[in-house]
Amino acid sequence: MNNKLKTDDKKYIGNTFKRYDAVFAKGKGAVITDTAGKKYIDMLAGVAVNLLGYNDEKVNAAMIGQIKKYTHTSNWFYSPQQIKLAELLVKNSFGSKVFYVNSGAEATEVAIKIARKWGVLNKNGAYKVITMRNSFHGRTIAALTATAQEKFHKYLKPLPEGFMYAEFNNVSSVEKLIDDKTAAVLVEPIQAEGGVLLPDKNYFKELKALCEKNNVLLIADEVQTGLGRTGKLFAYQNFGIKPDMMTLGKGLGGGLPLSAVVISKELEGVYTVGDHGTTMGGNPVACAAGYAALARINKKPVLKQVVEKGAFMVKALKALNNPAIKDVRGMGLIIGVELKSDTASYAAAKALKNGVIINACKPNVLRLVPSLIISKKQMEQAVKAIDKSLY
Ligand SMILES: Cc1ncc(COP(=O)(O)O)c(C=O)c1O
Repeated sequence: MNNKLKTDDKKYIGNTFKRYDAVFAKGKGAVITDTAGKKYIDMLAGVAVNLLGYNDEKVNAAMIGQIKKYTHTSNWFYSPQQIKLAELLVKNSFGSKVFYVNSGAEATEVAIKIARKWGVLNKNGAYKVITMRNSFHGRTIAALTATAQEKFHKYLKPLPEGFMYAEFNNVSSVEKLIDDKTAAVLVEPIQAEGGVLLPDKNYFKELKALCEKNNVLLIADEVQTGLGRTGKLFAYQNFGIKPDMMTLGKGLGGGLPLSAVVISKELEGVYTVGDHGTTMGGNPVACAAGYAALARINKKPVLKQVVEKGAFMVKALKALNNPAIKDVRGMGLIIGVELKSDTASYAAAKALKNGVIINACKPNVLRLVPSLIISKKQMEQAVKAIDKSLY
């Protein structure tokens, strides 16, 4: 790799990320090529962002078409691009209205703000939000407080008040924390960054029933699980429930920064003019690109293929019988490979050398979130390379 690039990166970039040894030149589909011409099968997809892979012609055309008209006008004016995408989200979910922002963390902030205002208006000032240990909801101050992992809290105290932590997959641990000041429960349908941990069969039904019984809002953080990744447009649709709010991000902007909070009809009156604002949120280029991507993903055969591809990948990884692997689990194309030791980041670095991009979301868990259009052949190649890369 170009050494000057490495030195300049150290010199000019606030290095909060430990970079892998690659600089990319161009991608197509699920494959990206580095500046030296080496090709990689991308099982990370820009961290679950590139839903249709690199250089999708229709997504590119939507972006370029909008860029040629205008790239930004602000939220003071009507935006057909925002409406088109919001209509798709609303018509295909429990949702009734969409608030746009820029990142997953910001969507978490907005969801918490809506829950708190709802608590003031409807529940005698209820403000507490219950989240799950080992969760991930983003890195802004309230979002990282919602993120119940001490490593994200270190050095940042005092954190905002009103966050309580329960155990994922344990409804009674939530029940114990609920009181008359509880406004909401915020939960990921699958704990993604936390190691790709799946919910038990009845977890969401029981959690939803508990929330209803206690007049508590259920917020699904679908930033990583939403937009087709699990084989449904939204992961909550796998569990026979409807949340009161959901957050979306990652691929929502077709590869450009865009996130959103979707709310139910019952919450419509809570957030009104002046309650929310962001200069760039709902950017027209991002909305146009996101619509072009989602209109294609939201098709029965595409979503069905996500389920089939995920099952194929899990089976192939299990069939390796690699002695380093403890467990393989997933739902659609969000897959975790749990290792017997804390060697996931070494394995990811070695996989890169072997032509596959994967990521260690925990010291002992590799996370695979490829683009939804990855082919069977590419998955087979990736599985072979992963096999060679494990310790
Ligand atoms: C479930 C979940 N929520 C929120 C976030 C934060 O998103 P962003 O990095 O865009 O702020 C992430 C990011 O990985 C996530 O996985």
